Amino acid sequence: MSFIELKGVQKSYRQGGLLGIRRRIGGLNGLDLKIMSGGCRGLLGASGCGKSTTGRLILGLEQPDEGHVLYKGRDLRELKGAERREFRRNSQVVFQNSHGAVNPRFQAWKIIGEPLMNFEKISIPELRVRAAGLLKKVGLSETDMDKLPHQFSGGELQRVCIARALALSPEFILFDEAVSALDMLNQSLVLELLMELKRSTGTTFLFISHDMRVLLKVSDSIAVMEGGRISFYADDLSELETSGAVSDPALRSLAGAVLPPEPL
Ligand SMILES: Nc1ncnc2c1ncn2[C@@H]1O[C@H](COP(=O)(O)OP(=O)(O)OP(=O)(O)O)[C@@H](O)[C@H]1O
Ligand SMILES: [Mg+2]
Repeated sequence: MSFIELKGVQKSYRQGGLLGIRRRIGGLNGLDLKIMSGGCRGLLGASGCGKSTTGRLILGLEQPDEGHVLYKGRDLRELKGAERREFRRNSQVVFQNSHGAVNPRFQAWKIIGEPLMNFEKISIPELRVRAAGLLKKVGLSETDMDKLPHQFSGGELQRVCIARALALSPEFILFDEAVSALDMLNQSLVLELLMELKRSTGTTFLFISHDMRVLLKVSDSIAVMEGGRISFYADDLSELETSGAVSDPALRSLAGAVLPPEPL
């Protein structure tokens, strides 16, 4: 059974106020997507094709107009009370803009400890011990614990956000353009960290990006999205990894479109 499955999902946004006509510009248009347990599924597509919308539906932050979002075979809308809480605990997210995703007045230990405070009865000293361990896990030092967000570089703050996502040992983490705001060096360092975490934790990752090079590094399989639905799956990336060649004609044309130009 899929860990997460979207079936025939439609989603559109009302435009032009209350009397506006519901127009499907970009929304989701009969989206089917399966995410199996373990490993990393990449979700690739051009800007505006509906990747983040898909992510919000998977996290239960928005509801589909039609179709189903299933978590271990159950429709998210059926989950209530303790089950809903368990789902929320098990599904974490890392966004592109780390500065926008943290409270600027919170020190790192408090940022990382927030989900622990929400879901566990835990004392401050215990929280600091857990935060120190998580900082080390993402390649930072426990001496970073009392820093405020503006005292970190972009790459470091993204690691703090990753530590927060790991705090509850979730089954699933969604990364929405999580390295897109970083320079090439930090991108590659954070991607290496994610690959290591994928191996060591067994957590299921969904990695959303418009950048094929990033996805090829971190994903085991890639779903390509166009116009609010999956246009095809590239499930075997081994050939790509070894030869660097793209044999699938559809993927090849997309690779040409999506790969950023080589640096001068
Ligand atoms: N809350 C909203 N209200 C109105 N329109 C929305 C809303 N959220 C998304 N959209 C529209 O839905 C479409 C898909 O948006 P989405 O953010 O999912 O794209 P994306 O693939 O994540 O793009 P990007 O790569 O730029 O992040 C866009 O046309 C967007 O304008
Ligand atoms: Mg997006």
